[in-house]
Amino acid sequence: MINHRRPILVLGATGRQGGSVAKALLKARWNVRALVRDPAQPVSTALRGQGVDLIRGSLDDVDAMATAMTGVHGVFSVLPSNLPAEDEVRYGTAIADLAAESHVDHFIYSSGASVGNELTGVPRFDAKPHIEAHVRKLALAATIVRPLIFMEMLVRPGFGLEYGRLTSLIRPDHSMQLIAVDDIGKIVAALFADKSRFSGITMRIAGDRVTGHDLQTAFSEVAGNPITYARFSDEVLAANADLAHMASSLESGPLAEPADLNLMRELNPELLSFRSWLASRDREVLDAVFGRNSEVDHSGGLCR
Ligand SMILES: NC(=O)c1ccc[n+]([C@@H]2O[C@H](COP(=O)([O-])OP(=O)(O)OC[C@H]3O[C@@H](n4cnc5c(N)ncnc54)[C@H](OP(=O)(O)O)[C@@H]3O)[C@@H](O)[C@H]2O)c1
Repeated sequence: MINHRRPILVLGATGRQGGSVAKALLKARWNVRALVRDPAQPVSTALRGQGVDLIRGSLDDVDAMATAMTGVHGVFSVLPSNLPAEDEVRYGTAIADLAAESHVDHFIYSSGASVGNELTGVPRFDAKPHIEAHVRKLALAATIVRPLIFMEMLVRPGFGLEYGRLTSLIRPDHSMQLIAVDDIGKIVAALFADKSRFSGITMRIAGDRVTGHDLQTAFSEVAGNPITYARFSDEVLAANADLAHMASSLESGPLAEPADLNLMRELNPELLSFRSWLASRDREVLDAVFGRNSEVDHSGGLCR
């Protein structure tokens, strides 16, 4: 039987995935500890207000991380975006090593759904598979999750919604799986609740599957005016290696490999479809997305 009094250490708790995991673990009555770089920043003080035990430290600070792992039941590890590949691998493997040395009962690493069976030879695409392989080698009860594309990514500025169009990675009649950031936390909490079932497992996690046409319809309904959907042009993809890599992976690579949505619903009965996620957004925030109120910082608001 799991002892909920021993805490779970959440890395990146002031960010999207870690914040979602901390929230869901608190709801499931776990004691939650977070390693934060700045305990005085508003997101950190909000976490403390919700009962999270804050330890000051950064990924560079091995002593702070070892302290943060002392006596914990579990660790949720997620690395920040846009780290140089060598730093991502160095941090990701060091965190897992420390968890093994600290005899952590259950370690969950959030990897990426673009990880497949083959390395690409491009360091920034291969950092997560390297970390995954390292985690699997350790004497550590570990679960690896590979979240599909965040729903929140579709409403960031710069993809055309403010001009009545959405440009993204799939062809209009193709589909992709998406996940709401809030659901990542709920799924991870369900995995921590059942170590014997989920340790040693790697799973893609998602909440819904949508086509480009579905996105066009859903956004048009919420906007109250037509939103047209298109894939990035071939010229744009040719000029941007990261976008091209994702588009090709969604067509016939690892990003096209599905998460088991029935299992996702079992783990999280509140799993959000894209439509229900969109309907749950604040009107003011959506107005900003559609270019009707530029005063609102919609990227932050939508990730709550
Ligand atoms: N599937 C998708 O669509 C998708 C989209 C985006 C990202 N991702 C993946 O998600 C992961 C990033 O997670 P996220 O989006 O939750 O990140 P995020 O929202 O950007 O948050 C990053 C977190 O890391 C913390 N952090 C940054 N540098 C740190 C350091 N040196 N030491 C300790 N903490 C540090 C930040 O803390 P501060 O508050 O101190 O800055 C923050 O809590 C990456 O693996 C990325 O590839 C996936």
